[in-house]
Amino acid sequence: MTRGLILGIESSCDETAASVVERGARTLSSVVASQIVTHARYGGVVPELASREHLRAIVPVVRAALAKANVTLADLDAIAVTSGPGLAGALLVGITYAKALAYAQGVPLIAVNHLEGHIHAVLLEERQNARAGEASADEDALALVVSGGHTHLYLAQHAADGWTYSLIGRTVDDAAGEAFDKVAKLLGLGYPGGPWIDALARFGNPLAVPFSFARIKTKMHLLGKAPRTKAAKTSPIADLDPQFLFSFSGIKTAVLRYVELHNLRDEAAERVTRMHGTVAPPQTKEDALALCPQATLDLIASFQHAVVGDLVKKTFAAAESLGSTRILVTGGVAANRELRTRFTAEAARRGLIVAFPTLALSTDNAAMIAAAAWPRFQAGDFASEDLAANPSLALQ
Ligand code: KG4
Ligand code: ZN
Repeated sequence: MTRGLILGIESSCDETAASVVERGARTLSSVVASQIVTHARYGGVVPELASREHLRAIVPVVRAALAKANVTLADLDAIAVTSGPGLAGALLVGITYAKALAYAQGVPLIAVNHLEGHIHAVLLEERQNARAGEASADEDALALVVSGGHTHLYLAQHAADGWTYSLIGRTVDDAAGEAFDKVAKLLGLGYPGGPWIDALARFGNPLAVPFSFARIKTKMHLLGKAPRTKAAKTSPIADLDPQFLFSFSGIKTAVLRYVELHNLRDEAAERVTRMHGTVAPPQTKEDALALCPQATLDLIASFQHAVVGDLVKKTFAAAESLGSTRILVTGGVAANRELRTRFTAEAARRGLIVAFPTLALSTDNAAMIAAAAWPRFQAGDFASEDLAANPSLALQ
């Protein structure tokens, strides 16, 4: 009998990751090489630099994952790789290497959608934590994938031959993580912005600035319109119920206006100069706190409160409409403390179950890719030799 060992490889954005997972249920290793230092000075991911860094990191990262798992290439039963969505050049590095390994070892190659991976981050940990004989993980759930590139709601359903996913809602413009990153950038905080906002929001009044989200208009105005952002290209908007659509580009503009109106600009500009100039940007939470007046902290707290409130409201409305009793929240923004607290409280109030990945599996990693590949391995759902990167791959 095989051990069911799958090597997962992830290189869709700015993390080069590899992991060995046994039967989609036990992580033997999970190695992540982050490129944050490379991209931070540009305030966002630079695709060309990302590909170059993946090329540098891929071989040592895979070697480290095998060594930590105490296995060799010959022990593997399959190689899984993210085939999209993501940056084309970045995806290609992982795909090319995965193909070469699969060919050399004579094992199947399995293509995994990055969003499916985020969902399986939660399922993997649920399986891992389940006591022997205890039922776990494989129950249908409403999944909110909320990251730097996506804000998507899926109904994930389990059948005998694997999982199926139906898109329920999504952002029509920016992803929630993108809004965190852009607001942090305009306030002169570091990249990625989410962790900075998370850390500073606790020192402000979340009700100081009453941000609101306009209801997204009917489907008609979106019909026939070209998607405006990278995220919007991955799946159609027009056929979704407008009450489950998100929009985060407006709040970013509202934050900018507030900064201008309340003369918070000078001190924000000073932090921006520090970030791009010769003076170092704030490196620690204490540094950043010293640089932020109370009005800025209130703005940060109010921004986070509004974004999290919108995610909570629409996700639970979708759960109610679909009769879902189980909600999974995953992706980089799921690391946010206010988000976890408020989803947990709302689920308790409604008698629903909510689950998140641990912090390490919230952001990009390859354990989630190896775990998502396991049901595909069992179903014999393998990729062909001409597997290509698909930057706007939809999950369905
Ligand atoms: O899933 P991920 O690592 O990569 C993508 O697939 O995009 O998510 C990265 C995103 C970034 O926008 C980052 O600012 C956000 O997740 N993020 C957070 C937190 N930690 C990471 N946003 C809010 N609060 C956090 N604690
Ligand atoms: Zn991701």
